[in-house]
Amino acid sequence: NLRPIHIVGNWKMNQTMHEISEFFIEMTKMKMELKCKAWIAPQALHIAILKEMAFTTGSIQVGAQNCAEVDSGALTGETSPLALADMGVEFVIIGHSERRTIYGEKNELLNQKVLNALKNDLKVIYCVGETLAEREANDTFKVIEEQLNVGLHNLPADKAHLVLIAYEPVWAIGTGKVASAEQAEEVHAFIRGKLEHLKDETVILYGGSVKPDNIDSLLRKDNIDGALVGGASLKAKDFRQLCSIA
Ligand code: G3H
Repeated sequence: NLRPIHIVGNWKMNQTMHEISEFFIEMTKMKMELKCKAWIAPQALHIAILKEMAFTTGSIQVGAQNCAEVDSGALTGETSPLALADMGVEFVIIGHSERRTIYGEKNELLNQKVLNALKNDLKVIYCVGETLAEREANDTFKVIEEQLNVGLHNLPADKAHLVLIAYEPVWAIGTGKVASAEQAEEVHAFIRGKLEHLKDETVILYGGSVKPDNIDSLLRKDNIDGALVGGASLKAKDFRQLCSIA
């Protein structure tokens, strides 16, 4: 397929300034052309500094892990998509399972976030995925269809090119239990079949315990266009290796 491979590091609520400096020193040392698109989403506080550091290494795009559903207002503690766009931030992750489960974000709210981020011309990585209980009850496809239908409701056709999907089975996140390439491909193909706009062009990432030693078999599958990586994106050595395999 002709879709570009994306390796997206989701740093979650990790990394000190010292660790971030080390990361970029290492990345700069290992000079080599990146064959894939390399993106990193640090915590909101670090976005500005990361943009500066990423600028010096070139080729890494910086994004946010979440944003609000409106541009501005009395929303203490939230991150404005308008401010992200204004800062030159390239993308935002919306609907990560940690936002869904820990902060109770529902598909309807996520739909508002997606539409508003797109209005600001941010690229959106919209996350979907089933829990272990849902998989065991054979509800995987039902759950994902609902997440897609509601979360991407009213998606304007002229913004569809800004949307990427990440499939993250909740049971595989941070557990070391990676979905098999076949399990992931089955869901990726299902997701692609459900996309209304840009079926063939939309990048669909897999996330859940991706490491340098298991990414290869995932990327061999037709509908897996890259990875959303947590733990293995924190160290430059692993991140670099993921990007060079891709
Ligand atoms: O956004 C990333 C995912 O939640 C995966 O995290 O690679 O640490 O399992 P993980």
